Amino acid sequence: MAKLEINSRRELSKRDKKIFGHFLEHFHRQIYGGIFDPDSAFSNSSGFRQDVLEALKRIEVPIIRWPGGCFVSAYHWKNGIGKQRTPYFDKAWRVEEPNSFGTDEFIEYCRLLGAEPYICTNAGTGSAEEMSDWVEYCNLPSEGKWAKLRIENGHPEPYNVKYWSIGNENYGDWEMGAKDVKEWGRFVRESAKMMKRVDPTIELMAASISDLDWNLDLLREAGQYLDWISIHDYWDKLHNVNDLSDYETCIAYTMDIEQPILKTKYILGSLGYLGKIRISFDEWNLRGWHHPHVNSGTDDYLTPRDKNDINSSYTMADAVFTACFLNQCLKHSDVVGMANFSPTVNTRGAIFTHPEGIVLRPTYFVYELYTRYLGDIIIDSWMSEDSNFLLEKANKTTRIPFLDAIATKRSGSENLRIALVNRHPDRVETVSIQFDSSIQYSSAVFYSVIGDSKDAYNDIGKERVRTIEQPLKLDMQSNLEVEILPHSVNVLVIK
Ligand code: AHR
Repeated sequence: MAKLEINSRRELSKRDKKIFGHFLEHFHRQIYGGIFDPDSAFSNSSGFRQDVLEALKRIEVPIIRWPGGCFVSAYHWKNGIGKQRTPYFDKAWRVEEPNSFGTDEFIEYCRLLGAEPYICTNAGTGSAEEMSDWVEYCNLPSEGKWAKLRIENGHPEPYNVKYWSIGNENYGDWEMGAKDVKEWGRFVRESAKMMKRVDPTIELMAASISDLDWNLDLLREAGQYLDWISIHDYWDKLHNVNDLSDYETCIAYTMDIEQPILKTKYILGSLGYLGKIRISFDEWNLRGWHHPHVNSGTDDYLTPRDKNDINSSYTMADAVFTACFLNQCLKHSDVVGMANFSPTVNTRGAIFTHPEGIVLRPTYFVYELYTRYLGDIIIDSWMSEDSNFLLEKANKTTRIPFLDAIATKRSGSENLRIALVNRHPDRVETVSIQFDSSIQYSSAVFYSVIGDSKDAYNDIGKERVRTIEQPLKLDMQSNLEVEILPHSVNVLVIK
């Protein structure tokens, strides 16, 4: 039996709810045919899919990063506003971009959802001036050409977009207009200066990688203008695993989640930026993506040949990985203030759209569980007894603890809210939870995301992954034993 001890008097940090953020890119069917589909019977008068919007409201999306991704590095925002929208050829994904979803539509979508907009700018083929014009369009009340244009376009009030990033993965040769280590810091500095001249209250981020020279140059040149540093990770892509078809391979990657956070934290610390610059993990997912135009061959959603659309690829492994990722962000929430699941809809997203409705993939239920039941204060907890299992993969043996846990409470309440993940593919684990006996707790509820097998997934007409709720008896004042199902994600609330 495992033992989890909790010291609820020791509050470690207050998490930022932006950790539960999302990302939407003009890529695959995320925007067109995803959240925006004027021809769909499910869409409202603005062309937004109402079924998707309602599902996103239920997971309380706090922030959306947009419009890319690689897409943004050749995107010119001025072509995506006003009545005249001219399509162009998007060189990142090699498709025609109709430009019918632009800044005004994005802001309207965020407002409907109650989410903060986070705009990622073009630091590939774009310029500091184009970025700062975008800030003018969004945030100036009425001064100058761009604010006046927003008003003319029917939006008299400024949008007050607070979060902006200078570029995307500009270090990568896959990006249009990629930059090298010598250019990046200076480019970020000059862009940041112009953007903050327009609105000094905005918060800015720029891309970092685990390359010491890149980070040293970026932070020395532009650190004083940055509020965040942006990191990305896709575990299969970056770690050269092209086949995540088995649960065990996916689960082995849960042991690597903490590494990029720690590396970035040390870099920030060594240059004196801890407490001033926070980490925005603004693209992440267990899985990378398939180029839709390499794999596609039919529009028939029932026999999708676009590999991103195969719902059976997104299983309980994704749910378990997602929960372990969020647990690490919560654990490091002194420095991680934002994370954006990449992406929200379609590709390898939490929601899949089709002409007759939507499918909620396993990751969706993890967001629902975490946003609904966890608290905002991270409290001290530790596994004082634990079981491990060994995974042999690619000539490597990884020791994996069955359980991954994080304890929280809500400001102003003593109720305990504990996330508990059982990574094991097929063994139930019992955990004894020890807590403060001086507080009068009287009941407990256990919420679990479960699937009928480790490979369970949801699809059109198939719901094998869902959330269940169980009341638990509290026999003792300071101890509760709970059985955790294999490959499950859970939140225990002790009241
Ligand atoms: O999500 C697809 C791509 O993955 C994004 O455009 C890019 O930022 C990342 O490499």
